Amino acid sequence: MSRNQPSIDALQISPPARLQLVNWYELNKRVLPWRANQDPYRIWISEIMLQQTTVVAVIPFYEKFLNSFKTVSSLAEASEAEVLKNWSGLGYYSRARNIHKASKVLVVRGFARTAVELAELPGFGPYTSRAVSSICFEEKVGVLDGNVIRVLCRYLGLNWQWWKPQERKDLQQIADRSAQVEKPSVWNQAMMELGASICTPQKPACMLCPLKASCIAFKENLTTTLPLQKP
Ligand code: ADE
Repeated sequence: MSRNQPSIDALQISPPARLQLVNWYELNKRVLPWRANQDPYRIWISEIMLQQTTVVAVIPFYEKFLNSFKTVSSLAEASEAEVLKNWSGLGYYSRARNIHKASKVLVVRGFARTAVELAELPGFGPYTSRAVSSICFEEKVGVLDGNVIRVLCRYLGLNWQWWKPQERKDLQQIADRSAQVEKPSVWNQAMMELGASICTPQKPACMLCPLKASCIAFKENLTTTLPLQKP
């Protein structure tokens, strides 16, 4: 295990950089159908679809699905065949089945508001639970997807084997601490948006990056080596 940092607590995005990132996000965020409001049903469906496809590819499928099932109760009342039909083209049909199962629990109990409660539902892994609770209910938990892992490893200069359980746990802790802000919905989406649009896997646009003043990978010319490549 190669670890180049002594203490997790010291690994933080600096306050001025955080401000830069949030300002950048407010000015540059894409207008997306699921960003119109903080409705948990709409955001949940978008987050599941976004796990398998890019934003641009998801939009038509998302609109079709939401048009067929406008609310969580209409989804719960539909047959599984209908749900699968409206998922067609997206693949990963177990995700559609899990969404359907979870909808039946959610209509009875109401939408759970914390990541811990959401994680009990079918199809709600650590990422989805945190994305929904932070984006819809402003729970102060950090999301960790591929984009966020890349931003954190580069910014903090971490040559970590991020795919291993202990490393992921440490990254989750860093992400959680970074989300102790007034609007975790904005913070988490800003981190993901930065990874999707500027801090890309190949040829990141560092000159446009709101974090460049304190990014270790930028300063030390490590953007091609960080994050480490999963073997
Ligand atoms: N990728 C997945 N969910 C996202 C979100 N809410 N904002 C930006 N990128 C995302």
